[in-house]
Amino acid sequence: MHTSPHPLDPLLSRQSSNALEDPAPEGADLDLILDAGLRAPDHGRLRPWRFVLIRGEARLAFSDCLVAAARDRQAPQAQIDRIRAWPLRTPLLIGIGAQIRAGHPIPEIEQMLSAGAAAMNMLNALHMLGYAGMWVTGANTYDPTVNAALGFEAPSRLVGFLAVGTAKAPSPDAAGPAARPDRLAHVVDWSGPLGAS
Ligand SMILES: Cc1cc2nc3c(=O)[nH]c(=O)nc-3n(C[C@H](O)[C@H](O)[C@H](O)COP(=O)(O)O)c2cc1C
Repeated sequence: MHTSPHPLDPLLSRQSSNALEDPAPEGADLDLILDAGLRAPDHGRLRPWRFVLIRGEARLAFSDCLVAAARDRQAPQAQIDRIRAWPLRTPLLIGIGAQIRAGHPIPEIEQMLSAGAAAMNMLNALHMLGYAGMWVTGANTYDPTVNAALGFEAPSRLVGFLAVGTAKAPSPDAAGPAARPDRLAHVVDWSGPLGAS
């Protein structure tokens, strides 16, 4: 039975937010969030995690970089306008990449999953410290020009960006049952092979 306060409350109440404002974490808070990312599980101790902090004035150059890539992809103007504005209204962006070792006995998918686990740990950590964020990908994450600008050459690659700041308006039902999927729709108690009998 879940009674409040419960040790898992921070995990169960995390919610993504794309309506962000200052402050973003910095200093000791940011260090803790990054360290939480570095506690992700990692098969083979490959440490594939790479975090690229984009903040302050650098967001202008990043916006220009995203716009140039979107133009090269011949994205529609409305999308280019959204792409241009996004870094400028986001207090802190963290590009999360996986430094992939190709041909390693640890499959590439596991190296990617470890980078994803780092992203999740950071989302939880920043929520626990009172900040908010959202994991976003979109075409820019898969664009080789954007990857190269952030230091990722294939097979290394971005797994997405964390948009980070403080939520403008925390949702009142973040910890409520409405925010959670039906557990029964996602869980089975396995008792033998499934499929055609
Ligand atoms: C790998 C990954 C990529 C995502 N990319 C986007 C994205 O580009 N745009 C978007 O609106 N949501 C994206 N999302 C979804 C949001 O991060 C978020 O999970 C979703 O809005 C649900 O909110 P919640 O985390 O509060 O349940 C992505 C999620 C994941 C895991």
